[in-house]
Amino acid sequence: KKRVAILISGGGSNMLALVRDMGPDHPCRPVLVASNDPAASGLARAAALGIDTAAVDHRPFGRDREAFEAALTERLEAARPDIICLAGFMRILTPSFIARWEGRMLNIHPSLLPKYRGLHTHARAIEAGDAEHGVSVHEVTAELDGGPVLGQARVPVHPDDTPERLAARVLEKEHILYPMVLRRFAMGDRTPIRL
Ligand code: GAR
Repeated sequence: KKRVAILISGGGSNMLALVRDMGPDHPCRPVLVASNDPAASGLARAAALGIDTAAVDHRPFGRDREAFEAALTERLEAARPDIICLAGFMRILTPSFIARWEGRMLNIHPSLLPKYRGLHTHARAIEAGDAEHGVSVHEVTAELDGGPVLGQARVPVHPDDTPERLAARVLEKEHILYPMVLRRFAMGDRTPIRL
């Protein structure tokens, strides 16, 4: 089986969706869940499932992203992942970190890329008056939220939507899309999925 490491910063609902999908018939197994925030509740949720976890707090490193990433890389290398899934991981990664894992790293981003790279995607879709919004899973390249899209799922934007309500509607789709993309990616299939 392919070894999968998952990087999170928060509750880890996408991490759980990926892990729950990794049953006996799955081409992957989870070998590590790591977070830049030691308080991320997803770490405890992963540990409760018997998965190895690592907390690499970015704060002691201040602005030194490379030192933070060196510490993270040490934990990742020890787990020997074939694939890394960013799942609500909220740190920008340097080009050298990305280059090390290029072709093996996926990210989930809550917009219909190439629209709304970066933050506050739900508020921006509402602000723009979009009729549709959604989520993308893409390969991670040096361009922020810019790598090849491997899957997208769409949701309607309702006239009375708040960013919170819209985010919840998108999150339901995230939990369906990311496991589908990971399965295919692990089998070497990069054909984009549209939901
Ligand atoms: C998800 O909505 C994910 O798409 C988003 O953070 C949330 C994490 O939720 N990711 C980004 O915004 C990446 N820039 P989770 O911790 O429950 O999976």
